[in-house]
Amino acid sequence: MSVLIDNIGSLVTNDPAHGGLLGAITDAAVVLDGDRIAWVGPRAELDGAGADERLDAGGRAVVPGFVESHSHLVFAGERAEEFAARMAGESYAAGGIRSTLAKTRAATDDELGGNVARLTGEYLAQGTTTVEIKSGYGQSVPDERRSLQVAGSHTPFATLLAAHVTPPEFAGRTDDYVAMVIHQMIPACAPLAGWVDVFCEVGAFDEHQSRAVLAAGKAAGLGVKVHGNQLHQGPGVQLAVELDATSVDHVCHTTDADIEALATSSTVATLLPAADFSTRNRYPDARRLWDAGVTVALGADCNPGTSYTTSMPFVIALAVRDLRLSPDEALWAATAGGAKALGRDDLGVLRPGAVADLALLDAPSHLHLAYRPGVPLVVAVVKNGAPAR
Ligand code: NIG
Ligand code: FE
Repeated sequence: MSVLIDNIGSLVTNDPAHGGLLGAITDAAVVLDGDRIAWVGPRAELDGAGADERLDAGGRAVVPGFVESHSHLVFAGERAEEFAARMAGESYAAGGIRSTLAKTRAATDDELGGNVARLTGEYLAQGTTTVEIKSGYGQSVPDERRSLQVAGSHTPFATLLAAHVTPPEFAGRTDDYVAMVIHQMIPACAPLAGWVDVFCEVGAFDEHQSRAVLAAGKAAGLGVKVHGNQLHQGPGVQLAVELDATSVDHVCHTTDADIEALATSSTVATLLPAADFSTRNRYPDARRLWDAGVTVALGADCNPGTSYTTSMPFVIALAVRDLRLSPDEALWAATAGGAKALGRDDLGVLRPGAVADLALLDAPSHLHLAYRPGVPLVVAVVKNGAPAR
């Protein structure tokens, strides 16, 4: 079935064919055919007489659906007390992950699936049409396998976060845990995931351990993602580039050499400022990364520890206010940038042949996403060509 979305006051396409970073078109229209975009352009050039259905955007703004390339949705419980203690002065440490691990292991499959459905529903209601989901609160072969099964029933983008925290049964024996991940977990879980990920950080996994896990995942056919340089300066960025990772995520503590390495690689820097906001961590130097030519993505990083939000509009507002990206750069990073962090060029862009995922804003332009922080501007969402809210 074909659908004409007509009377779009301001359309962001992310298609360079229309000029500028965002390929923006005023007084525009879009034609969808099934789950794909069929036509995009100024209304004056439209021949939409043949469309089966016509929707009137009322002069409002349409943007590509947001692409979230980093989330941890397969968990049970929450950690509001930990958040309150942090706001009272305590610092974030990786150990908090263990309390979620215990609750996740004890939960039923239905409880985990219900939590993922609730959170992907929140994402969708706020315009996010693609969500990558990581495992990582199981850290045993059966618990990681079922986390990936739960993730895979909600998204085609599932990531095995094999080395997130050393589980209690391996306390003080992190190298033994890494050996188990390499010899048992990765072979058992690789068919259920697209990427392998590690938390390369002080108090989590060091350079040697991280490299061993990532190399084993890569050898099993998985793409590579890295949680790197979140809390401290460290080897995560360089390791990601060395292993030709799809993305390195967080990237808050960087040296000149880190930025140079990223700029000359195809690895995306995925920035997660909502995690820095909720942990009072240092923000990444997004301006320097962008200006050096690094491909930048923005994600919400929804998880119960560092970033319990599913709002990509909130992330865009933070990126503009605190990371000093322009509103155009922030929107690009939250759409086309996120798609690149998932290795896709047919998501996060509105051009013929791309996936028909878009959001209608109750606003005259995308600038309002950052200009009106906290206001629910997304009034309609189309996913795979069908109305999703
Ligand atoms: O992306 N950094 C590690 N992993 C998550 C936090 C997980 C947690 O605290 O439960 C993150 O920030
Ligand atoms: Fe994360």
